Amino acid sequence: MTAQSIVEEYTSTHQGSRELHERARMILPANGATHTARILDPFRPYITHARGSRKWDVDGNEYIDYVLGHGALILGHSHPDVVTAVQEQVAKGTHYGDNHELEVEWAELVQGMMPSMERVEFFSCGQEANLMAIRLARIFTGRSKVLRFSDNFHGWADELVGAGPGVVADQVTMIPGHDPDSLEKVLATGEYAILMLEGGGAHMGGQIPWDADFVRTASTLTRKYATVFLIDEVVTGFRDAPGGWQSIIGVTPDLTSLGKAVGGGLGVGALGGRAEIMGALTPKPPPERFLAHSGTWNANPLTAAAGVAACRLYTDGSVHRRVNELGAYLRQRGNRALRERGLAVRLYGRNIIWIYMGSIDREPPDDTLPPTRDVQELVAGAQARPRLCLHLLQRGISTMAARFFIMSVAHTEEDLDRTIEALVDSLEAMVDEGTL
Ligand SMILES: Cc1ncc(COP(=O)(O)O)c(C=O)c1O
Repeated sequence: MTAQSIVEEYTSTHQGSRELHERARMILPANGATHTARILDPFRPYITHARGSRKWDVDGNEYIDYVLGHGALILGHSHPDVVTAVQEQVAKGTHYGDNHELEVEWAELVQGMMPSMERVEFFSCGQEANLMAIRLARIFTGRSKVLRFSDNFHGWADELVGAGPGVVADQVTMIPGHDPDSLEKVLATGEYAILMLEGGGAHMGGQIPWDADFVRTASTLTRKYATVFLIDEVVTGFRDAPGGWQSIIGVTPDLTSLGKAVGGGLGVGALGGRAEIMGALTPKPPPERFLAHSGTWNANPLTAAAGVAACRLYTDGSVHRRVNELGAYLRQRGNRALRERGLAVRLYGRNIIWIYMGSIDREPPDDTLPPTRDVQELVAGAQARPRLCLHLLQRGISTMAARFFIMSVAHTEEDLDRTIEALVDSLEAMVDEGTL
């Protein structure tokens, strides 16, 4: 097999997608895609519909889906409770531009699961919640600087990325994670309004996992130096446990941002935390300061209907137990197959299962953890991943750039067995073609 064969094979079975990609390239500037993660050489499939753990493209190809709406769909595609709630709501009106009961119930459900969220505010997406966290922290502390960890992702707005082409973020300081001494040195300047930390670890819930002791230290240090502590649970909130990742490590942040799963599959963000910090949003007579918050789509009835339907299913923890169980099944059986076939690739994680392509220093008995602590190795495989993604797509497995497999309650053990087979087969094909 030559390195070109898979591209030719894929293109021949995805002619409808190829045609749409050609059209898209003329109008959508990101090489025809609408999100950087959806760019692939030669192109990703164009999807027509999805249900449960599956989605189908314009050429009739079926995929077991592990992209799952960028991690939002812990219930799988088109969960019946969410479909019913949205269908009923669309007939009753998508936007009243007014208050409604669903937003109250939604906030109560969120707070009931995450008690650190004494007050809750809704947004259109996760990054908006993070931007509001920065503003609230500035008002609360009277300071302007933002402290965050390199590799952590919080959205694409200037202060959330910190640096990059066209970015102006002169109040943002980025420090490496995992080093309590350098964290204390920076916090001790007393200049920082907020410390932001991505729940689980850097990248989608923990490609570079946090050591829980470091997070506990970070929480203690923020209290010592009067800096607001935010845990960004946009990915991990309502994915790891009803109480979020914070409940697993036993840390109570001042503020928590949510997104993805809290909206049941529709676009959403939420921010919650200590009433005295969130209180800047409460109207007050001058000269006291009142923070206004607009946003056309905040808690719109359609998203709220989906969010309430989904959150009702999260409260007893059964969804989280199931995705963690499926995650364990995939990584344990997957690692066994990879070892047996002599492939230097491993799987790790909780319910988002990472494909590790770096060098293997250790085989941790608890394979929720990666085979190394070396950050560079954890993110290795930049060249090989797009190629692996293509091989997996051709075998009916949809991933986001072959970085991870996201679990949902709609997946079955049979789906996972097929996925392991496809993964091993893809990697062996890559060895043959000389791309691994
Ligand atoms: C940890 C984290 N925070 C924030 C965001 C931004 O959320 P949104 O894309 O809904 O704005 C993301 C998106 O993937 C994320 O992974």
